[in-house]
Amino acid sequence: MKNTGTETNMRDGANASIWQSALVDHTATNHSDYQEVYDALIIGGGITGLTTALLLQKQGKKCVLVEAKNLGFGTTGGTTAHLNTFLDTTYPEIDSDFSKETSSLIAEGTKKMIEMIRTNIQDLEIDADFEFKMAYLFSQNEKETKELQSILESSQAAGVTVTEASENGVPIPFERVVRFDNQAQFHPLKYIHGLAKEFEKLGGQIIEQTFIERTELHEDIHHAKSDQLILKAKNIVYATHIPPGINILSLRNAPYRSYVLAVKLNSGAYPDCLAYDMQEPYHYFRSHEIDGQKYLIIGGADHKTGHEDPLKAFEALEEYAKKYFDISEVSYQWSSQYYVPVDGLPYTGHLPGGDKGIYVATGFNGNGMILGSLSALLISDLILGKENPYEKLFSPSRLKPIAGFNEFVKENADVAYHFVADRFGAEIIKSTHELAKNDGKIVEFDGEKLALYKDETGKVTALNPVCTHAGCIVNWNPAEKTWDCPCHGGRFSITGKVLNGPPQKDLESVSLHEIASGNK
Ligand code: FES
Repeated sequence: MKNTGTETNMRDGANASIWQSALVDHTATNHSDYQEVYDALIIGGGITGLTTALLLQKQGKKCVLVEAKNLGFGTTGGTTAHLNTFLDTTYPEIDSDFSKETSSLIAEGTKKMIEMIRTNIQDLEIDADFEFKMAYLFSQNEKETKELQSILESSQAAGVTVTEASENGVPIPFERVVRFDNQAQFHPLKYIHGLAKEFEKLGGQIIEQTFIERTELHEDIHHAKSDQLILKAKNIVYATHIPPGINILSLRNAPYRSYVLAVKLNSGAYPDCLAYDMQEPYHYFRSHEIDGQKYLIIGGADHKTGHEDPLKAFEALEEYAKKYFDISEVSYQWSSQYYVPVDGLPYTGHLPGGDKGIYVATGFNGNGMILGSLSALLISDLILGKENPYEKLFSPSRLKPIAGFNEFVKENADVAYHFVADRFGAEIIKSTHELAKNDGKIVEFDGEKLALYKDETGKVTALNPVCTHAGCIVNWNPAEKTWDCPCHGGRFSITGKVLNGPPQKDLESVSLHEIASGNK
């Protein structure tokens, strides 16, 4: 199993994704010649941030993009990069929760984004392995078949090219199947590095390894502060999934993790399509060739961040994959985070309750490549003062009381106040010897609740397990070697550094010596 990224090509967990295996040409450089005031400061070096930055820079705006780690560190480095004209929120759901016109608008936007990505790759000569593919969605029982029929009808009505098919492209039994034409796949890291290169060529600046700790507004100019610098900008775009701090978007989006395997097959019969079953959570399939080697990429086993055992999720996914494919090697396995919006559509636009000129983009569900690109187009239009058909629909301030809303809010409240205490009580230990090497645990040690991790050499790192966002207790993720917060998806490294999510501060370090000596 390959589990290392390169120094400049890291991800937010211990497992490297398949995209990190091919050394991506790293173009971003840190600058010292900062502008007095930028038109836009974009925070986050994934597909949303880089697309926004490039769109604005192309229009003559002076932009700087700041990334806390390296480009593609977050979800863009862990996506499986399916480009679809159908979404996790299905057209029948959009029809009923919004309107048929909304479904048509979404369908048009998805098509446009596949074309925008294809055109960028072509025009900027990015070697990003873009390929059009057929996508098969298949049912396996009566209930799913009924739902599939409704998806077929609503998708067609929305203007999506989809028809009934007789095969599903993968060796998995099905009851019924539909085929979406002109879907696509690509290499997400190569793509964003291509965008970064062009952005810099046009005069944009990229600053990596810089965490913006806070922003302040002085006379209509935002001052964004890291521990080393202050950047001034007229607009700030949080392309970080969920924006930092306590805000309504943490209640309207639930963090999930999805699991992925990239495997080699004895048969050599790699599917030449995209495919999806309709289970909950659903499995997704595609193939990709990297350095002359073909891989089948299978995803699924999704669950709420910090709510299930990640090792079991990988096991379940592997077991499922082995049932249908003759696997010779699991070459990569990794997990990735995404946010499920309460009413099914992204929250992109002005940050509710935020200062003027602060924008956010989140709630992409499992469709971040398409909806991140569409959100980038929307935010750049908002900053440029142009009309955009998605402005009202995606507005983060929208109030959309739908059937699931109350349940969702209740679930979130539940998460915040009861979940951790109920399910993950701290284990009481008397000595750190009780902790296995290479493992982490929430423990009670000398009367203190601690997040303890013991490395391979036996060195123990102790942290205060109270999440710095809103006070939930973090959980150990043994697969990614991270501390994951079950409330709003905040994630921290072994040493407590913020990796992603809304927390702005690292977990507090605790000295075991001080606890043992009673000084703390
Ligand atoms: Fe909100 Fe941890 S991410 S409390």
